[in-house]
Amino acid sequence: MMDRNASIGVFDSGVGGLTVMKEIMHQIPNEKIVYFGDTARVPYGDKSKETITKFSRQIVRFLQTHDVKAIVVACNTASAYALDELEKEVDIPMIGVIKPGAKVASEVTVNGKIGVIGTEGTISSSIYPRYIKEINKDVTVIGKACPLFVPLVEEGLWRDPVTDEIAKRYLTELIDIDIDTLVLGCTHYPLIRETVGKIMGDGVNLVNPAYETARELKELLIREDMLRTQEPKLGDNQYQFYVSDSAEKFKRFANSIIKYGILSAKMVNIEEY
Ligand code: DGL
Repeated sequence: MMDRNASIGVFDSGVGGLTVMKEIMHQIPNEKIVYFGDTARVPYGDKSKETITKFSRQIVRFLQTHDVKAIVVACNTASAYALDELEKEVDIPMIGVIKPGAKVASEVTVNGKIGVIGTEGTISSSIYPRYIKEINKDVTVIGKACPLFVPLVEEGLWRDPVTDEIAKRYLTELIDIDIDTLVLGCTHYPLIRETVGKIMGDGVNLVNPAYETARELKELLIREDMLRTQEPKLGDNQYQFYVSDSAEKFKRFANSIIKYGILSAKMVNIEEY
């Protein structure tokens, strides 16, 4: 039986998964979290299934050295390519960001036309359409890769005319086919939600898988009777951050997403796992 007061492991290819971690911190504030960002090997968005599975497996092994009680794959590309295989290899619950987002998209659409934006990897895996259609086979799902969004977000251009212009180019075809629901299928996209929302207009529901994943995680922990009961105390080391490279850069970016005051991020040689 897993210790209900153990930490939750959360990982991503780099900083993007912090949008998921932020939602978890809000929705289940007692939980302890160990976050791993694979900053040495980011991006995952243009890598093969084999490579992403190998990287993700190493990270899962690392997180297990922290005796985590559950693992959140807070990366759309890793959820698309590695989750199915890795969840068979561990005996703790593992959840990704795709199913929760797909579920909500299939529920909120009225006209049955759903857009999904993400990395090349996530879009070409066709995993969002697969999951959405499993729930509702009568919908149309149109995927659009938006590879420039990740570097724009990491450059801090969250509200910038350059991002507006690129977003217009990417999103025009989704507007033209009259979607009423758009899944922000990449960890970085909630950070440019405002720009995307402005371009898509008020009639389009934006689905944020980061939020939905935190909700599903909470439900899972309640269902399994694994919610942390202890209140967090000072000196508890409630949130721990690990990266595979550039800890200082990670810390700067992380502090712009999570208003927590991240004091340290430790470097790990992930190839050893
Ligand atoms: N975290 C990735 C995702 O959600 C985006 C960044 C990357 O390409 O590694 O798909």
